[in-house]
Amino acid sequence: MIKAVRGTRDLLPPDTDLWNRVEAKVRELFARYNFHEIRTPIFEDTQLFSRSVGEETDIVSKEMFTWEDRARAQSEKAQSLSLRPEATAGIVRAYIEHRLGDRGTLQKLYCIGPMFRRERPQKGRYRQFYQIDAEIIGPPSAGSESPARDAEVLEMLAMLLDEVGLRGWNLQLNSVGCAEDRARYNQALREALKPVVHQMCADCQRRAETNPLRVLDCKVPEDQPIIEKLPKISQYLDEPCHKHFAAVRAMLDAVGIVYSVNERMVRGLDYYTRTTFEFTHGGLGAQNAVLGGGRYDGLSELLGGPKAPAIGFAIGEDRLMLALESQGEQPKEQLDAFVAPLGVGMNVHALKLARELRRAGITADLGDEDFRLKKSFELAEKAGAKYIVIVGENEVATDQFAVKNLASGEQVQVPRAKLTEYLRQ
Ligand code: HAM
Repeated sequence: MIKAVRGTRDLLPPDTDLWNRVEAKVRELFARYNFHEIRTPIFEDTQLFSRSVGEETDIVSKEMFTWEDRARAQSEKAQSLSLRPEATAGIVRAYIEHRLGDRGTLQKLYCIGPMFRRERPQKGRYRQFYQIDAEIIGPPSAGSESPARDAEVLEMLAMLLDEVGLRGWNLQLNSVGCAEDRARYNQALREALKPVVHQMCADCQRRAETNPLRVLDCKVPEDQPIIEKLPKISQYLDEPCHKHFAAVRAMLDAVGIVYSVNERMVRGLDYYTRTTFEFTHGGLGAQNAVLGGGRYDGLSELLGGPKAPAIGFAIGEDRLMLALESQGEQPKEQLDAFVAPLGVGMNVHALKLARELRRAGITADLGDEDFRLKKSFELAEKAGAKYIVIVGENEVATDQFAVKNLASGEQVQVPRAKLTEYLRQ
């Protein structure tokens, strides 16, 4: 038997009901914050990711699904393509390619879809997973650099998690400064690592040279005591970066959003500048980040585009669902009515009645005239219906239907004109 590939999985009903409910809620909320959908391809030129996310990151150096595309002509070089490990790079490419900056306003964009990383699968970590990603990007003249954007994004996230019903989340916040701050910080890390780096893992030894900041992403337990003693980024922030971070925090305080500052959180992607953040949840185990994000003021220019400061985030949808399920969220919506035709020729009448109910917004399922009453009841119960509505010859003749509440056992006759109202209560 052929099975789904390791690290991928099928999402089945009734779980997909919960996914759809959450996505519908999120789309509706994004609309209230004036975000609009963008859909970019799920594969791109490999260079897009290596340049934006960074060569030395785990994502690019170990986890991408990359292949050489067949050259179209002999004279042409084969192009290296990769499945997207994240959405931000593709969105910024699209922003540049379609000159969205020329529109002069902030682009508030979101996308929902699958991402791919060749990680070791475990609970909450898959090779195909789903992100709900949102970005605010635009020219500085439209206010893209302002700490007000950071506050708006974080306030929206707090609202979003509250509205989808997630309780007990924690917000961790940090600032990784601007490019100049990071150059100084990297230099300080290089110095601090020199006497100790030979005790660390092979990845850290390489990164200490190439990109010391990435040493902070190391998960090797033996390296942690060394990492704890390294210099902290906050000591290297310049005045404008300090002010920016203070302004973000002051606005969060003013709207009552609780956070803690975590100076080790530099996030596993190279494009970040200034504010970075993660929301974690206790119901998730080791992979406890429900979402992560931050500011990336230099990415557009790095990719050859105009100056376009930006901030965004990606929610790990698989993890959001796990967290919701851990607090007892029911995946399934209840079925209002099971319409059961009883006797030869009744299918058509049941179909007509179900059509009326469905048109009025009642969720209804249909049986079959070949089923005996007992079987219809069993199917209605299995389907989780609240009511069964019997459509037999008598019912059709009198235009009154036998309706039974499957939980209480109460049965009544309801005239056709009153049926929708009755089922709705
Ligand atoms: P990230 O932290 O790499 O950031 O991923 C964001 C979220 O995606 C994580 O917090 C996690 O919930 C989920 N996630 C990541 N990898 C996996 C996996 N293998 N299985 C399941 N869930 C996973 C980004 O991707 C950035 N592009 C976020 C961003 C947008 N920053 C600015 N704009």
